[in-house]
Order: sequence, then structure tokens, then C-alpha cells
Amino acid sequence: MTHLLPSEWSDRVAFDLAHVWHPFTQMKEHLEEPPIPVVGAEGVDLLLGDGRRVFDGISSWWCNLHGHGHPRILGALERQGAKLDHVMFAGFTHEPALELVARLRPRLPKALTRCFFSDNGSTAVEVALKMAFQAQIQQGRANRTRFGALREGYHGDTLGAVGVGELDNWLTGVFRPLLLHCDRFAVPEDPRREVVGEADASLDTARAGVKAFFEAHGETMAAFVAEPLVQGAGGMRFWAPEILQEIRSQCDRFDIYLILDEVMTGFGRTGTFLALDQCGVVPDFLCLSKGLTNGTLPLSLTWTTDAVYQHFWGDYTQWRTFFHGHTFTANPLACAVACASLSLFDEEPVMARAQALAATMRKGWEGLSGHPAVRRARTLGCIAACQIVDPATGQPHPVEERFGWAFHRRALDHGLLVRPMGDCLYLMPPLATPPARVQEVIETLAKLLD
Ligand SMILES: Cc1ncc(COP(=O)(O)O)c(C=O)c1O
Repeated sequence: MTHLLPSEWSDRVAFDLAHVWHPFTQMKEHLEEPPIPVVGAEGVDLLLGDGRRVFDGISSWWCNLHGHGHPRILGALERQGAKLDHVMFAGFTHEPALELVARLRPRLPKALTRCFFSDNGSTAVEVALKMAFQAQIQQGRANRTRFGALREGYHGDTLGAVGVGELDNWLTGVFRPLLLHCDRFAVPEDPRREVVGEADASLDTARAGVKAFFEAHGETMAAFVAEPLVQGAGGMRFWAPEILQEIRSQCDRFDIYLILDEVMTGFGRTGTFLALDQCGVVPDFLCLSKGLTNGTLPLSLTWTTDAVYQHFWGDYTQWRTFFHGHTFTANPLACAVACASLSLFDEEPVMARAQALAATMRKGWEGLSGHPAVRRARTLGCIAACQIVDPATGQPHPVEERFGWAFHRRALDHGLLVRPMGDCLYLMPPLATPPARVQEVIETLAKLLD
């Protein structure tokens, strides 16, 4: 299907190609398939420059919860803009930041009493890594110079965050000489999340692996970092809460801080407000971003405990201060928008709706699981994922075919924005998506796979 851009947009796209460098993009591919102008958004849909309306099937990079252009959120932005747009947060404070902390605190584990602001998921993780390291040093543990993490993890693109993400792949391998020292182990996927077959999760073997890992590395790690329940960018790998519990107890045994990165899983995605609510685990650090502002403005938070905070307390010349801050730390507009998003959780049945959506997604995914191109269909809350194979061979499509990319472009013609990661096709719609709509979307996916 050919979609023609109005002529003014053709010029703008040429301008883009001449000057802009897009994220996660081999720009050469844009010569053949240029970036697609988005000219608006309404509810759970994006409006493209060529007139197409597409369903935002991945919540605009895993951010959107309540739909685009939500009047409560835009209203809060406008009201805050009229009062205070930005001010430095070192030595100053303001109401939207305080309201945000007050609104969020009751939804977090009680032990998380301190909140540090930054402005994206990667920096939320950087803050946690640096705080954990410095807290260890300030307790006299100068040997804690390494970190621990899961294989296939993803925590962002700044060097610290890359250093604790999966290392041996195309995304990060090139930076190896520059990175933090990190030891990793692989965590098995949790077969209980799959829509067919409830195989044994082999939890005992996995737990024994965790113990062995900590026995080997426990004395040198400052902190261990993980995405609870779902390794998102690693390919929507759902893993067992029991393994996280074992990691927590090993961290306690060796005085290692546990950092939970809920940048993607936070704010209802997994069926509970936080993924950790399903895990029975309290971290020493919690990183939040993405859904925090409904994706309207950049903002992130790193929460920690009073025990950690106390290691930074002292006279100025004791040099225990956490010397870290970003220009847009606690930007008032972003905080006001986050408050508006949280107020929707307080005043509307957002989580009940999310659970209804999750049930419909699970049912739809059960139907999809029989498709010959689909393997390992699985869901968790409002995240549904599967592996796409070539039905002729039962194997994933070769990388050179760029199957995921082609599928993405094709899906747009059918009113659907999905962006498979390699052979992993997934849906992560806004929580506000009407269940009937997601049912239609899954039917469209099945047709596309045909
Ligand atoms: C779990 C997780 N952590 C951190 C990040 C990085 O967030 P940002 O892209 O806002 O830096 C992401 C982004 O996808 C993520 O999924």
C-alpha cells in the first residue's frame, strides 16, 4: 500500500534526513524507508502525516498509560506552566516535587523513604549505581568495586547503565573497554507465563545457580541490579519471582545492595502497580521513569532507604555528599504531569481496567499461540510476547531478512504500531486501551502473520 505524504511533509522529511540522527537506527536504511512523520495523537492512537491512524501498540516506547493528550495531564501542564516552569533543584524546592513524593510514597515499600530526581531511565539507574558504590565506600568497603546483573538485562544507554546490561551483543559489545566491572548470570524464563504448557520452572536449579554466583562474587560486588519479573529489551523474558527472592537473600548475606529497575515494569504494566508487588522483595534502590509522567515529559526517580541515606550524612568537609545532579532535576512541569498521572490511579479504576485488559490479552494470545509462525506465546499483565518463526523451518528468520523491521512497516498499513525486537513480537498497549480494541489488534496480528 502506498501512502503519500503531503508535499510540505516530503520537504520536512528531506530536511530530517539531511540533519537528524535518529536513535537505534541505521540511518542508511532511512534512504529507502524514511522516518514517518507523526502529526498528532488521540487516546491510544497516533496520527501519521500521510493520514494513517495507528494503534500505539507499544505505548510510545513503553511510556503511555492513560492515552495521549489526556485532558487531566495537559491541564496540569498548563496550570503549572503558568506558575513555575523550571528552577534549579540544588538548594531550592517546589510544590510539584513534594506533591509527587507524597503521592508516590504510599504506593512503594515502606522502607523506601528517600527520593532522588533525574530525567530518564538511564540516569535513574546511574544514580542508583553511583549511590550504592559510594555508600559501600563510606562504610569502609573499598573492595566493593564490581556490580552484579542478569544476562540479557537492559538498563539504558549511558555508559554506567550499559556496563550492567547484557554485554556480549551488538548493542554494547563495542563499549566493553570503557565499562564498569560487572559479573552476570543467566536467569531462566518462567514457563508458567506461557499460554500453553506449564512446564516445571526448575526453580531449585536456578536458586542453586544464584547461590553459586554470589558465593563466587559476593565479596566484591557493591550492588546487584535487575529488572524484576520482565527483562524488557532483552526480549520480553519473563522470569520467576522466586529467583528474585533468592537474589535478595544472597544480597543480604553478602551486604550487597539490590537495585530494582522498574523503569519499564512500573505503573501497572505487569498487572500490579509495581512488579515488585508480586515478588515479596524490597530493594535498597528502586528506579522509576517512563510511565511516571504517562510519557508526557521526561522524568525519573531513584528511591532508596534511610539506611543508605545515613551513609551520606555528615559535615560538608567529610566529603560524604552525593555530588550528582542534572540540569532538569525535578523539573516542575514534569513533576506536575506525574502528579496528574498518579491522581488518575487514585481516582479512577486504572488498575481494575488494566486487569481486564490483561485478561483479554491473555485470551487473545491463547488464540494466537496456535499460529504456525508463533512459538512460546506468553503474557504477564498487559504485556504479551511471542517468538516469530518461519513456519517452513520452525526456526527464527535469519537476521539479514530484517523480518521484525519489515513486519513493523507492514503493520502500520494495517493501523498498528508494533516494533518486534528481533524475532520477539510483543504488545504493550496503554493501560487505557479498551479490551475490545486489543482483541481487534490481536486479530490483525494473526492476519499479518498469515
Ligand atoms: C528496564 C529499563 N531500564 C532503563 C531504561 C532506559 O531508560 P531511558 O531510555 O529513559 O534512558 C529502559 C529503557 O527502555 C528500560 O527498559
